[in-house]
Amino acid sequence: MQKNANTKIRLAILRGVNQSCIILLISAIESSMISKFTIQKIMDEARVEDIVGEFVNLKKRGSNLLGLCPFHNEKTPSFNVNPARNIYKCFGCGKAGDPVRFLMDYQQLSYPDALKYIAKKYNIEVEEEYRSDEEKQKEAEAFSLTESIHIANAYAQKFYSDYMLNTESGRIGLAYLKERGFIQATIDKFQLGFSPEGGDVLTKQALKDGFQLDVLKKAGITSPKENSTYDFFRNRVMFPIHNMTGKVVGFGGRIMIKDEKAPKYVNTSESEVYQKSKILYGAYFAKNEIRKKDECLMVEGYTDVISLYQAGIENVVASSGTALTVDQIRLIKRITPNITMLYDGDAAGVKAALRGTDLILEEGMNVRIVVLPSPEDPDSYVKKVGAEGFGAFIKNNRKDLISFKASIFADEAKSDPIKKAQLIRDIIDSIAKVPDAIQRSVYVKECAQLFDMNEQILITETNKVRRKKQNEAASEERKQQQIEVREDQLPESVHQENLQPPAISGLNLVERDVIRILLEFGNWEIDAEGTPISVTAYVLEELDGIDMEHPLFKKVLDDIRRQFANGQVNDDQYFISHHEPDIASLAIDILSQPYSLSENWTAKHKIIIPDKKSVFVKDILSAVLRFKQFRNIAELKKVEQLLREIKDEAEITRLMKLHILLTEQKKEFAKSAGNVIYRPTT
Ligand code: GTP
Ligand code: MN
Repeated sequence: MQKNANTKIRLAILRGVNQSCIILLISAIESSMISKFTIQKIMDEARVEDIVGEFVNLKKRGSNLLGLCPFHNEKTPSFNVNPARNIYKCFGCGKAGDPVRFLMDYQQLSYPDALKYIAKKYNIEVEEEYRSDEEKQKEAEAFSLTESIHIANAYAQKFYSDYMLNTESGRIGLAYLKERGFIQATIDKFQLGFSPEGGDVLTKQALKDGFQLDVLKKAGITSPKENSTYDFFRNRVMFPIHNMTGKVVGFGGRIMIKDEKAPKYVNTSESEVYQKSKILYGAYFAKNEIRKKDECLMVEGYTDVISLYQAGIENVVASSGTALTVDQIRLIKRITPNITMLYDGDAAGVKAALRGTDLILEEGMNVRIVVLPSPEDPDSYVKKVGAEGFGAFIKNNRKDLISFKASIFADEAKSDPIKKAQLIRDIIDSIAKVPDAIQRSVYVKECAQLFDMNEQILITETNKVRRKKQNEAASEERKQQQIEVREDQLPESVHQENLQPPAISGLNLVERDVIRILLEFGNWEIDAEGTPISVTAYVLEELDGIDMEHPLFKKVLDDIRRQFANGQVNDDQYFISHHEPDIASLAIDILSQPYSLSENWTAKHKIIIPDKKSVFVKDILSAVLRFKQFRNIAELKKVEQLLREIKDEAEITRLMKLHILLTEQKKEFAKSAGNVIYRPTT
């Protein structure tokens, strides 16, 4: 009994909560409750062509399937589905993964929800895992700060809601919202609440419930000042801000009275889980409707989102008063290429509308703009004219960026030729940002008509701007490239690869090739002087403890060595679904290269067709040999550099000896490279 109680207290302290929050906790850690057995079963059953095929029209192309990429705009298909490896990869935008990753990315499902989706599709029974106290404690110890902050935010959200619904002083908040026309279902849906006036009511309660002050401060719930237990939000109507998976990551708090001295809204400061440049208010509630309508409405405020939603216009998100960022735009781009911005009719609204529009064009998306009749904002206007009237207004008044810019400046520009020239230049700058050539020419035509100008002049000017930008970008890239790669020194397979940024050195390229061998053939067997051993065993022995320079390749190699030390040699699926996302995406990248040997072979059955075997072995041997050769050259260079710098006699002697040894090795490698030998002597 005593021990049990202690365990619970420790658990509570570690998790930063007490018993009353256990329910919250359980829901927060539910994700890890699907049993390992079930996960394995789901991974085994899930067919990439089935899952992707639900959303993308796929056509057979050789042993693979091909379709239009759902993650970016394209006209010719480059979205590749490989049923043998159970992965997809877009050679246009680089998006890649296994069936689970597809659902997480395309449907914005959480990991457990993606698993459950597949389980449902294949009628797999989901087994929940019930863990002993001890197991739970282990997990509690592994609880990260991020998770603690999520729990604290969930706790605060519930607190604000309860406070608004169940206390005398909280009810003014409820009355305010009702007065503004929000019905209870809407208040519940958006989890609105009210923060007490007292000063530290929430913080005190949270501390009593076992939260650590540090976590509360990091979540932004308690004032960040040292030793302070002051609530960050006081006497405000609370709007929780959710991330794409529906977790509360921050709050906006609105004052209820007009006060010149106090800000109308107070927002959570940037935290571990809340980066405002990456969050769009309402996106979690809107995402399905955005997909259905193939359009996203963008407004400025929390109340605009909520009012439109209540009126039945659900494909709406808010930038929350700040300038739109690329990250925010990309959140939408995953769902639809069409954004319509709704702005207040005042001058500030128009200015705000123009900020961010170029970013949308640059992403290759379509932007349209609607300015509401002054002094309305979407919230007030939808209340005035209703959903139908609102929809009709959008339809009749939306403009693309060119005609929008033209219309707002036209009056000034008409009478002033200098202003007119400036305006046209401004529009050309925007057009130049559109990546698609056809789209660009449509805009140019429109602009020519609007200003009664020669189209060819506009095309020439647009191209000038584009060339200038491309030159700037190219020189930037050149600066960033580190080490020159000598093409003739690379293994053949490397030539054909679609190399991914960042720029990597020649050494890194051969490192990558060894990693490819390990991922692709690691659990195949080769014949080592009469005894069959795994390719992994062979390669690791040949590498003889040498590390890789590139941090990601080193990480993979370390993982393989660790597994191998435990008697484990894994297949390609292990790497494709690796729990470390960077390893998984590297694996998918490497394994979806079209040159891969196994394309021609029946890789799925791990059969080596006898007359191809020599090719396979040669591939491995040359990769390992090249790697060692490059290491050798890199080390030689390092030694030569040191010899130039170092003055110490003894050290110079040591380096000279090393230099001789490395040079001998270099000669040997060069000899071996010509005729592939089975086991190069080391
Ligand atoms: P209501 O007046 O309640 O209808 O809100 P609103 O959304 O119409 O407000 P407004 O159009 O003035 O502002 C749009 C958005 O900008 C708000 O939803 C907030 O996200 C943000 N915002 C407005 N005022 C402030 C402020 O004083 N401080 C901060 N940080 N953000 C603000
Ligand atoms: Mn408003």
